[in-house]
Amino acid sequence: MNHVLSARQFFPEDLDQIFDQADHMKESLEDRASRRELLDSHPESVLASVFYEPSTRTRFSFESAARRLGMGVIGTENASQFSSAIKGETLEDTTIVSGGSGNSVGNADIIVLRHNETGGADRAAAISSVPIINAGDGKGEHPTQSLLDLYTIKEAKGRLDNLHVVIGGDLLHGRTARSLAQMLSLYPSNQITFVSTPELQMGEDVTSHLDVRGVGHTATDDMFSAIRTADVVYWTRLQRERLSDPQLPEKAGLIRKALRSASAPQIPDEVRAELAAFDVDIDQVYGDFVQSAADDWEAGQMKKLKDTGQESNFVIDQAALQAMPKDAVIMHPLPRVDEIHPSVDNDPRAWYFRQADNGLPIRMALIDFVLENR
Ligand code: CP
Repeated sequence: MNHVLSARQFFPEDLDQIFDQADHMKESLEDRASRRELLDSHPESVLASVFYEPSTRTRFSFESAARRLGMGVIGTENASQFSSAIKGETLEDTTIVSGGSGNSVGNADIIVLRHNETGGADRAAAISSVPIINAGDGKGEHPTQSLLDLYTIKEAKGRLDNLHVVIGGDLLHGRTARSLAQMLSLYPSNQITFVSTPELQMGEDVTSHLDVRGVGHTATDDMFSAIRTADVVYWTRLQRERLSDPQLPEKAGLIRKALRSASAPQIPDEVRAELAAFDVDIDQVYGDFVQSAADDWEAGQMKKLKDTGQESNFVIDQAALQAMPKDAVIMHPLPRVDEIHPSVDNDPRAWYFRQADNGLPIRMALIDFVLENR
């Protein structure tokens, strides 16, 4: 295997190998001496962590995984601002510079890329001389999340087949849900129920893949009836900002930019001088003013979404816990906002933080797998 771009590229044998290695990593991390031995795994290699979108779990666990395998780590957590992307450099050129042109040793031996564009990882992989790992591309895929999701399901339920998996939330924009559904199709007799509002249903590209693979699936907006027979309840963040105005984040960004670009108001020099005498930095005052105007505009838009009643009714709370089987497993890729009530955290069925913990051993196993199979 070279690049890791999609949940679809894996075979059950790959997953067996990665999961066995993750078990080994998990065990080794528990023991001080074994943890030290892990540092000899790939001391000659460097991982570049290139994130154009925010991340807590994926970036931390990849960087921690690399360090625990003895690798060096370079990267940027906000590539669109802190890399030469801000000067107009393309993703392709950044990728070549990160991994090398192929003519000599490059800066990194493996690139973990999170990109805002669906297909961003494919673009990078098309020209990269080193393996690209897709750490999330727009509304596309998040294959390393689905690896840790399946690893967690196996740990919790003891199997990956013959499961009723309820996947809920914003399925239209949720890349974790998309990758999970596709990876579940590797195993027989799984049944998936998608729970969302009609406007946020799972994409047809994924459901037709499930059809081809013979996976039974249904869609509903009735959360309670779906979870009653669930083995796994996989909940995701409802991306409220996208509900009735899918372009809200882009608009907000442009409005901020437009307001900021006007941060040098036409104030006569003599007034500026008088203000300076009072120790007032008028550019700073004006900057703060336009910032709060942009914040007000964005808050107003969010309020409108709330007022139109488009907030999620799909909340996992005590009532939902009552409805689901005693041996169900509740998962969430995190971050959560308000779709799982904190009172659920202490229920033995809540697996989402253990799921996040599994990010480390899985990503250690995956890095090892990719470097060994270059
Ligand atoms: N699950 C997940 O991708 O989380 P982050 O966005 O924090 O990486």
